[in-house]
Amino acid sequence: MKPIIFITQKLPEKAVSGLQESFEVRMWEDEEMPAPREELLRQAKEAHALWTMLSDKIDKEVFENAPNLKIVSNLAVGFNNIDLHAAHEHHVMVTNTPEVLTESTADLTFALLLATARRIVEASDSVRSGDWKSWTPMGMAGRNVGGATLGIIGMGRIGEAVARRAQGFGMEVLYHNRTRRSFEDVKYAALDELLGKSDFVVLLTPLTEETRGMIGARELSLMKETACLINVARGGIVDETALYEALKSGGIWGAGLDVFEQEPVPLDHPLLTLPNVTVLPHIGSATVQTRLAMMDMNAKAIKACLEGGKVENRLC
Ligand code: DGY
Repeated sequence: MKPIIFITQKLPEKAVSGLQESFEVRMWEDEEMPAPREELLRQAKEAHALWTMLSDKIDKEVFENAPNLKIVSNLAVGFNNIDLHAAHEHHVMVTNTPEVLTESTADLTFALLLATARRIVEASDSVRSGDWKSWTPMGMAGRNVGGATLGIIGMGRIGEAVARRAQGFGMEVLYHNRTRRSFEDVKYAALDELLGKSDFVVLLTPLTEETRGMIGARELSLMKETACLINVARGGIVDETALYEALKSGGIWGAGLDVFEQEPVPLDHPLLTLPNVTVLPHIGSATVQTRLAMMDMNAKAIKACLEGGKVENRLC
């Protein structure tokens, strides 16, 4: 009997074809929606490998009901959806997809920063809706990016790639990170100092118990009234109610959000009513090349694990 791999959402044929000869590959055949929880639990009972999406909750219950499971390989660099402690207890490996998504995620971060600062989506919508009546001296006026100060919270690989882009725009770059790192032109700042000095605050820190809600009312109140918050990390890092209040009351100027506490963000979410919020559907790493490279990493990790080889990008 071949070992069983369950893939929780439909992936392109070429991403999985290399596994089909040696393994029984079962794939949830829906590209839009991941396998429902009951199906995930049902498949986990037999599977030797789970190939998961960041929207799948791989918690204690999954591990407790998966007697054959050897590996969970997550199609993301972030892994807050997986209980690593439970994985470790059940002797299951977990892998993610770092590095291959660094540049595309940094591109998206910078695109969202520019779109927020220059009100690109709002301006484009005004053309389509017929609200563009004439050129106006202050119409759709945004904020300067060139020469502004950028504060990066969470200075890993993606942070460094964002800093390189910012330097090309003549920005001064500050960073805040759990551990200090040494850079030539990027300066470390304590969190409060970074929040107070930055024109753009970019969140790139992983979501952990330590970072959950780290940007709340107090932190937002330290930001300049002209500043923008850009979140491309995880929604749970920001207190969304406090963010709504800060944006609505003019405490900060704008926000660019690729991620939300609940995804998809509910259509009646207060943040969606604000014109000074630019929203995206969690597309940080979404380029064809990057997503295929991430899938290749997952496939290699699963194959190596099930065949007893060396598994790269292990989280546990
Ligand atoms: C990740 O891989 O964790 C990113 O959020 C994907 O965009």
